[in-house]
Amino acid sequence: MERTFVRRTGRMTHGQRRALAALLPVYGASLFEQKGRNIDFEKIFGNADPVVVEIGFGMGEATAVIAENNPDVNYMGMEVHTPGLGRLLMEIERRGLKNIRVAACDAVEAFNAVNAESIFGIHLFFPDPWPKKRHRKRRIIQKPFTDTLASKLRVGGYLYMVTDWTEYADAALAELSATTGLENAYARFAPRQTWRPKTKFEERARAEGREIRELFFVKSPPAEFF
Ligand SMILES: C[S@@+](CC[C@H](N)C(=O)[O-])C[C@H]1O[C@@H](n2cnc3c(N)ncnc32)[C@H](O)[C@@H]1O
Repeated sequence: MERTFVRRTGRMTHGQRRALAALLPVYGASLFEQKGRNIDFEKIFGNADPVVVEIGFGMGEATAVIAENNPDVNYMGMEVHTPGLGRLLMEIERRGLKNIRVAACDAVEAFNAVNAESIFGIHLFFPDPWPKKRHRKRRIIQKPFTDTLASKLRVGGYLYMVTDWTEYADAALAELSATTGLENAYARFAPRQTWRPKTKFEERARAEGREIRELFFVKSPPAEFF
């Protein structure tokens, strides 16, 4: 699969730099420290609470609020953009959150090391839309990666995607609908999930006249259950 991101060397604020140095050792999870071994979420979080993985949390604005509102769920944020990692680490400290860990990694690679049926949810808020036709193969929501995502969810778990790019939303709806093990919880697009905080990114999209589309799929039991 093509890279779903371009590495940006965005400038870091002093606070973000400090947070990376001081807090990454505390709240960072180095997912690949045991080569060849799969990710042990119980060890990472120190408990067996359900795990939600967020792919590409950006500055982590939504991540921190959702984690604060759901202390009995563990949130694993994956991001490649270093200033964003620093920003979320600052927020974890400021809010005193115990249920978030961050990983500086390519989620597409990291998901290979997630055990089958081991996670409760996947969040993808405004993934890079790659609007140009020649770039579409970089979109994260497409087969076969959607098969990988589905295989890692436990039965009853969910995948929640939000995008401000309607053409990507249509394509993602088709890809997810065609993914074995996933079932759309709604007829087509989902209504706004009220528990998801509005971010600056979303407000800007609305202000610029882009429509927000939500997709909410649930992991269904294997066919042989019936
Ligand atoms: C358009 S931004 C949206 C950020 C945030 N979710 C929000 O709603 O503001 C998409 C983010 O996904 C990250 N990203 C893209 N592909 C990724 C991957 N394979 N693994 C981890 N992060 C990725 C990018 O670095 C970027 O920060």
